[in-house]
Amino acid sequence: MFSRLIIGCMRWGIWGSNLNKNQTSQLIETCIEEGFTSFDHADIYGDYTTEALFGSALEDMKLDRTQIQLISKCGIVLKNETNIKHYNYDFDYIVKSVEQSLKNLHTDYLDMLLLHRPSPLLNPEVVAEAFQKLKNDGKVKSFGVSNFSTTQFELLNQFVNLETNQIEISATEPKAFFDGTLDQVMSKNLSPQAWSVLGNYFSNENKNLTEIVKSLAEKHNVEEDLILLSFILKHPSKILPIVGTTNIKRIKNYNKAFDIKLNTEDWFKILEASRGKEVE
Ligand SMILES: NC(=O)c1ccc[n+]([C@@H]2O[C@H](COP(=O)([O-])OP(=O)(O)OC[C@H]3O[C@@H](n4cnc5c(N)ncnc54)[C@H](OP(=O)(O)O)[C@@H]3O)[C@@H](O)[C@H]2O)c1
Repeated sequence: MFSRLIIGCMRWGIWGSNLNKNQTSQLIETCIEEGFTSFDHADIYGDYTTEALFGSALEDMKLDRTQIQLISKCGIVLKNETNIKHYNYDFDYIVKSVEQSLKNLHTDYLDMLLLHRPSPLLNPEVVAEAFQKLKNDGKVKSFGVSNFSTTQFELLNQFVNLETNQIEISATEPKAFFDGTLDQVMSKNLSPQAWSVLGNYFSNENKNLTEIVKSLAEKHNVEEDLILLSFILKHPSKILPIVGTTNIKRIKNYNKAFDIKLNTEDWFKILEASRGKEVE
């Protein structure tokens, strides 16, 4: 249903590269040319403005809607003059948030809606009613969650059919390999989605990790970001990485990651350098 690499749009607008409409269209076009037809959004990206930036470019491009897949999220309410930051999974809030996303994105439906973060106040019966309405109205094709623990996933999954858990996974944040979240998604024959797949590799230097990744980049004759991607891709759960770059050159390079076959020991070298200790 989704392309083997998902394009994350969090940094496209004012939370990052501040692309204009032409640059946005160009980037969408490049992604599609590379076969990356799935785009990950959230209502809040760019302080609620990035979906509209993407949507205005999409409107002008006159693409066949079935050529691309759109994911969005709801549930986080950002702080403003009148309210503190909090989560909201009330029936009306979910439905209205999706309707606003559809308007912003200039589309009739989302391919997938995710609940952005778990909330202690989330009532699974209410969420199930909201999902049912959105599905019946043809506004959302499938549903999932993001950043849910295994028990939070299991509870909601008793009421609705969840199709993914979108979680943080990278060489510098490998906890999902051990905390059961990947096992759970895999056991249901679903594809997990991974955000921030490069982790803080480029911003927070870990000398040992850098050394290993650089040597593997040399061994496979590719750039370091591709080694970080191949680290994720080696996991048997068939993780769908979500990449956040807005750099056209990097996007054009990413298909190479699928040809890199890290051997098992090299995979563990990355893990060991990241965690600063060997496996037990
Ligand atoms: N569900 C959630 O809670 C959640 C949370 C966070 C993110 N997400 C989703 O995941 C997507 C990806 O997250 P992310 O943006 O953190 O992903 P990422 O792909 O790990 O990081 C992208 C960042 O790394 C930089 N970068 C990429 N390659 C580089 C290189 N070779 N050298 C130096 N810098 C490099 C990019 O800068 P350039 O643009 O200059 O390449 C960009 O700033 C988001 O867009 C969003 O859709 C979801």
